[in-house]
Amino acid sequence: RAKITDPNVVGFESDSEESSGESDNNVVGKTEELIETRPIEVESTIIENSDHGEIILSETKSEIIEIKDDPKIINIEKKPAVYVDVIRNEEIQIARMKLPILAEEQQIMETINENSIIIIAGETGSGKTTQVPQFLYEAGYALKKQIGVTEPRRVAAISMSKRVAEEMNLSTKEVSYLIRFEGNVTDDTKIKFMTDGVLLKEMQSDFLLMKYSVIILDEAHERSVYTDILIGFLSRIVPLRHKKGDPLKLIIMSATLRLTDFTDNKRLFKITPPVIKVDARQFPVTVHFNKRTNENYLKEAYSKTVKIHTKLPEGGILIFVTGQQEVNYLVRKLRRAFPLKHKDKMLEKEKEVKEEETKEEVDHFDENNKKKSIRKKKKVKIVPEINLDDYSLPNDTETISDDEEGLTSDEESDNIDDITVFQNAQPLWTLPLFSMLPSHKQQKVFQSPPNGCRLCIVSTNVAETSLTIPNVKYVVDCGKSKIKLYDKVTGLTSHVVHWTSKASADQRAGRAGRTGPGHCYRLYSSAVFNDVFQQFGTPEIQQKPVDDLYLQMKCMNIDKIVNFPFPTAPDLLQLKTAEQRLEVLGALKKGQVTLLGRAISKFPVLPRYGKMLALSHQQDLLPYTICLVAALSVQEVLLETPILATSPEDQKATRQKWSALRRQWAGTGNALLLGDNSVLLKAVGAAEYAHSQGKLQEFCDKNGLRHKAVREIRKLRLQLTSEIKKNLPEVDIFVDPRMEPPTDLQAKLLRQILLSGMGDQIAKKVSVEEVTEDEDKAKFKYAYKANNMEEPVFLHQNSVLKQKLPEFVIYQEIYETNKIYMRGVTAIEPDWLPIYVPGLCNLSEPLVEPPPYYNSKTGKVHCTMQGTLGSQAWPLPPMDMA
Ligand code: CDP
Ligand code: MG
Repeated sequence: RAKITDPNVVGFESDSEESSGESDNNVVGKTEELIETRPIEVESTIIENSDHGEIILSETKSEIIEIKDDPKIINIEKKPAVYVDVIRNEEIQIARMKLPILAEEQQIMETINENSIIIIAGETGSGKTTQVPQFLYEAGYALKKQIGVTEPRRVAAISMSKRVAEEMNLSTKEVSYLIRFEGNVTDDTKIKFMTDGVLLKEMQSDFLLMKYSVIILDEAHERSVYTDILIGFLSRIVPLRHKKGDPLKLIIMSATLRLTDFTDNKRLFKITPPVIKVDARQFPVTVHFNKRTNENYLKEAYSKTVKIHTKLPEGGILIFVTGQQEVNYLVRKLRRAFPLKHKDKMLEKEKEVKEEETKEEVDHFDENNKKKSIRKKKKVKIVPEINLDDYSLPNDTETISDDEEGLTSDEESDNIDDITVFQNAQPLWTLPLFSMLPSHKQQKVFQSPPNGCRLCIVSTNVAETSLTIPNVKYVVDCGKSKIKLYDKVTGLTSHVVHWTSKASADQRAGRAGRTGPGHCYRLYSSAVFNDVFQQFGTPEIQQKPVDDLYLQMKCMNIDKIVNFPFPTAPDLLQLKTAEQRLEVLGALKKGQVTLLGRAISKFPVLPRYGKMLALSHQQDLLPYTICLVAALSVQEVLLETPILATSPEDQKATRQKWSALRRQWAGTGNALLLGDNSVLLKAVGAAEYAHSQGKLQEFCDKNGLRHKAVREIRKLRLQLTSEIKKNLPEVDIFVDPRMEPPTDLQAKLLRQILLSGMGDQIAKKVSVEEVTEDEDKAKFKYAYKANNMEEPVFLHQNSVLKQKLPEFVIYQEIYETNKIYMRGVTAIEPDWLPIYVPGLCNLSEPLVEPPPYYNSKTGKVHCTMQGTLGSQAWPLPPMDMA
């Protein structure tokens, strides 16, 4: 049949009208057609789930096999006859035996042995994450292949791998983790904890996940985008692996929330997978509602905690607020109110030897660049086990622009210095917890507090389900969480603090009943809970742009994404805008992935940044683009408001100083036109220099850089560099961590590269009338008109282009606070548009004669339009030398 033109297409069953209307485009035809078909030369797997529910698998050359998606076939796997011994410490063994899931081990293992897909539902703390991988290990699942466990959060992947290694007396070589920037996976890894995004990336090169014998999707109730997609894929991969005679087990683990999205979803699983419910050993928790709902929940949380601590019997306190900055604020306030006694601070006797991470990283960077590194003696720092360092706030300099995430002015003026210090009260061991916190600081919450102190943890919703903190008796719940809202059409983002769901509130309350009867203080009224709270939160997939997923799925040969078996499907509008943006980017053409699109998808960053990387290798700008892409992929690198400042005047002065400094960093000429991105480049380069001098923290504090962001950028630069080396063996890149600022020409090329990635985010200067109270004094000022946006958008005071106000700019993001602002702005020239964003322009003829481009390393001018990535080639927009 002529229809079978592309063997690499995975189609999904369609039950929507829309898609069946387009079935002519469906590359793989209907079942009968396939079966009639004479030998087809296919190299890779065709998977089609036809209208009739069969899964058709055709593998390597001229073979077409049909299997019925029938429970009997799936249920015939035998229990492995092996048992792998694990020698556990007595203490661990005793603690394990108390976990409710231990009582269910036999039932769980029997169900797993008899079924391909099972769901384990149990309250947080029942032992799912730590124990199920161990059951599987003992039953021999790690003998030939790996046991893979996915977590939606990096924190959980790291901490759970460490915990399981410890419980099993195995090294981190065997029980390992892999997250986007780092990992300790080895060839000997048996149990691998990873973020869900990492597993999805792995599927791109190994669709059937051949190196795993079992995949555990943990925290499925969190409904993270990647976990959702993985469930969809695995619902099809499991039968395929079965057919191959090399079965893969799928275990979906979840809190007892909204299971029906998985169980009553015929599109996902034809046969409802068995559900094993694990009863948590949960003590009763008394829930106390506030009579009235006070807007200022931070103040309320503080006074409630003071009351609990001064009046109620011992037991840890866990406070839920919405964001990192609120956590830091409250921690600071509580520490001031209930200070540690001198002897508590000094209580450490044991010393722990820690190598200074920084030195190691420098070596790694050098090694990565195959440069001879001058071996520096490893500095050894002695860190006392509990010292003030541990007790200090994570990043005292860390703050987020007050536009967006800051405290309201009310709270800011609520001066911490004015707090009553409870001199004679019991000291309170107050710790912060949020996902951006460095992991060694996160681990602190699991340790017991110094003698005589009460434990108090101030957390974001990280502590809601993924981490279980021991000995919490009191929960203080503000009832809110922060989400980033995203407009599906315009891309406008805003951070909104809103009420959580009933399900989340109950999860939070449950944290108080882990070790004994507990109390949950809800800082809102029962009326609000009953009338305003939704039953469940919205799955993440419906809340953010899906461009990266869309491209990734296209590259995995999913022809019709609307037909993919999502547990909850994204909005059609989301899919449509993603497709449009990818078309503009050149990653898709008429719905098909282009070669450029494939190249883009290889990079673990958003498609727009992937394109910038893919293009710049031909322009010899890689080190700069890598640096920019890394910096753009990390949130909040440059701070706007200092936290350490002592007074409002001081704050203002620091802000002004930073602002002036950034203008200076931006440079002149093309560098200045590169705008905020020029500042980013300079900041990263300067931070690297400070790092090599061992003064990174100091440098960041002084110049308003977020220390943790800088470290993350460094990791991402390393990762992107090695990714490029892997994909482009012929490219000899040397990424100097300390980069010279780009030359004027390079800065211009970078503006063009940025345009090629952000061509859908262009804004043109317009003049607007500003409404003032006094109508006679109507003011005119400049604003911008951005794609798809009706309202004017503005350059923020902090943008280095604020004075210059270029005619055309591209922006990284638009966000709304009191006005709509652009972030990450670079000036562009309008005549570049047809070259770099042809998808946006109505050209009757394609541009035939592109201008040449210049390779600054070789000094040569090239006229070719082809670029390569490995063996692939794609048309390349030329760089303008004029
Ligand atoms: O996954 P689930 O929420 O069902 O429970 P888990 O994470 O496996 O935790 C089981 C128990 O191990 C809890 O009681 C935790 O307190 C304990 N645990 C711990 O003490 N330290 C860790 N790093 C992780 C878990
Ligand atoms: Mg868990």
